[in-house]
Amino acid sequence: MKIGILTSGGDCPGINATIRGVCKTAINHYGMEVYGIHSGFRGLLDNDIVPLDESSLTGLLNLGGTILGTSREKPFKRKAGAVSENKPAIMLQTIRERGLDCIVCIGGNGTQKTAAKLAEAGVNVVSIPKTIDNDVWGTDVSFGFDSAVTIATDAIDRLHSTASAHQRVMVIEVMGHKAGWIALHSGMAGGDIILLPEIPFDIHRIGDAIINRLKKGKPYSIVVVAEGIPTIGGKKAAQYIAEEIEYETGFETRETVLGYIQRGGSPTAYDRNLATRMGGHATELIAQGMFGRMVALKGNTIESVPLSEVAGKLKLVTEDHDLIVQGRRMGICFG
Ligand code: F6P
Repeated sequence: MKIGILTSGGDCPGINATIRGVCKTAINHYGMEVYGIHSGFRGLLDNDIVPLDESSLTGLLNLGGTILGTSREKPFKRKAGAVSENKPAIMLQTIRERGLDCIVCIGGNGTQKTAAKLAEAGVNVVSIPKTIDNDVWGTDVSFGFDSAVTIATDAIDRLHSTASAHQRVMVIEVMGHKAGWIALHSGMAGGDIILLPEIPFDIHRIGDAIINRLKKGKPYSIVVVAEGIPTIGGKKAAQYIAEEIEYETGFETRETVLGYIQRGGSPTAYDRNLATRMGGHATELIAQGMFGRMVALKGNTIESVPLSEVAGKLKLVTEDHDLIVQGRRMGICFG
């Protein structure tokens, strides 16, 4: 059997560990042939595909980024009502010409949507959820998330000493797109006030929370803000909230935007192991002929869900999440 593998969308720690998990299982355990497709779905359009063997798979477990490269190519996206350049047909031709029996798609929400469409077009597809945002529907956790939360928590810890020294409010903006998962987990691990896109906030309540902290002898506060919260005037989340807090409370306030640091570098041990398990399971699905499915973590078990159920949905934070319930009980302000 010949399988093609691609990585698409924003990169994150753990992609290379997943590639390793898929390919080593395929080569060593099942005797399959593996081909790397470069730059996501663009590689299928450009016929940019290379064979992968054991030697191309060494040193990947702790390596950040993706050895295959990535892109945000959306080959099924319609322009003015028409599918541009008939990209789906070009991809199908490449897959046929190369004799690929299955395509493994590693990516976030956009990738799952494209993978589902590829499956609808008759291609054998297995996908794996990958994103620091943790917003892929159907899996409890995506690899990359734990690494991003660890990086954000480390940054928050570092802000504590400077915030305390100057008695300032520090606002830190973390990624997550439309979801607040990184802000929730890193905020609960080290912040005082946490703002998520899923929970509407009131700047007066945030001001009150900061002033109450002062009354309790805490002259500084760390505010963790998800990039996806609503702002006014096109301002970035951290800038907007820092300006509003300073105006509301009179406290000297500074902002930090953590940005792409959250996507770079080595994966945590948790992400390496999740990536390895998910990669291995993807190959198992291929061996069993179970196509059109996305690998998923449910509880502590690796399973799979139909791609058709995943596509187009987002997994967002809900207010009954135990970290929010527990945070509120302990006086954390969610805005
Ligand atoms: O999906 C991962 C992510 O890092 C989001 O958190 C962020 O909003 C987005 O990608 C940034 O996208 P780009 O890499 O295209 O700038």
